[in-house]
Amino acid sequence: MLTSPTATPAAPVAPATPDRVLTGDRPTGPLHLGHYFGTLRNRVRLQNEGVDLFLVIPDYQVLTDRDVAEHLGEHVEGLVLDYLAAGVDADRATIFTHSAVPALNQLLLPFLSLVSVAELGRNPTVKDEIAHSRQAAVSGLMYTYPAHQAADILFCKATLVPVGRDQEPHLELTRTIARRFNERYGPVFPEPRTLLSEAPLLLGTDGTKMSKSRANSLVLKATSDETARLIRGAKTDATRLISYDPEHRPEVSNLVLLAALCQDRDPHEVAAEIGTGGAAALKATVTEAVNTYFAPLRARRAEYAQDLGHVRQLLREGNRRANEVAEKTLTEVREAMGTTY
Ligand code: TRP
Repeated sequence: MLTSPTATPAAPVAPATPDRVLTGDRPTGPLHLGHYFGTLRNRVRLQNEGVDLFLVIPDYQVLTDRDVAEHLGEHVEGLVLDYLAAGVDADRATIFTHSAVPALNQLLLPFLSLVSVAELGRNPTVKDEIAHSRQAAVSGLMYTYPAHQAADILFCKATLVPVGRDQEPHLELTRTIARRFNERYGPVFPEPRTLLSEAPLLLGTDGTKMSKSRANSLVLKATSDETARLIRGAKTDATRLISYDPEHRPEVSNLVLLAALCQDRDPHEVAAEIGTGGAAALKATVTEAVNTYFAPLRARRAEYAQDLGHVRQLLREGNRRANEVAEKTLTEVREAMGTTY
């Protein structure tokens, strides 16, 4: 092939800076299949592709809920077990509780100086949580936790944060804080991108949103029998011919989808195979699919649960790594602010 003498040589392709991914789950109870198919398995996929993954367990954030706060230790341990069971590898990913990382928490103070009370007050997710909270008085933590979340994200200079749509106001605040800090003190923080997860894929067994606080969740750690019982009680309809039609038959379609996700098949195909078998055949298929798919995960969880000392050790190691990263960032922050004494 002739190359024109004027052709400019291809620019050397700079390797794209790999993303550091940070996300987390409130330690409020066991993770369910909605979490698993919605985000958890994607995180494990990212980790296995070599992405540097940080998982924060925001144990200070949940102090806004007194009932949860009373069982914090249990919830944290359960969450670590769910992560490990789902395939998070504590050697590669950093699992940590933010309360154990003092330098991360210290970032909160300069960060709070960069946002106004009015900005904190008009965060729609916080407003919604206040409207639904059962507390008599709203604590200061409720208004400031999004700034704390900015510290969760910025302490390790995460560039990509996979979360649901409700978290977008917090991510916007995080970018605002990063930008204002950099403008005032010099470049320290990247502005992280949001990786929006799809709308929740799965409904609860009653056809409403699958939620830790409703008795409609299929939790990861459930036994086969518990799973069978929950699916047996799931809401369906009276039409015998099973189809996949989420708009007109949300409950039936949700069960079909669950089986399809577990079998890695097309939901229409799953529905066609059940045909006129009705709700009973559908539920038998779903129970079998869920219990088969999650058997290895549940076995792994049970194995880890036998040695909680080891699980706590993995968390301590994650906390140690997070502290190392946080102290380095705090040093940069102090230098940028001129507060190295
Ligand atoms: N606010 C998140 C939630 O309610 C939890 C969370 C805290 C988080 N810090 C985070 C999520 C940092 C992503 C990144 O679910």
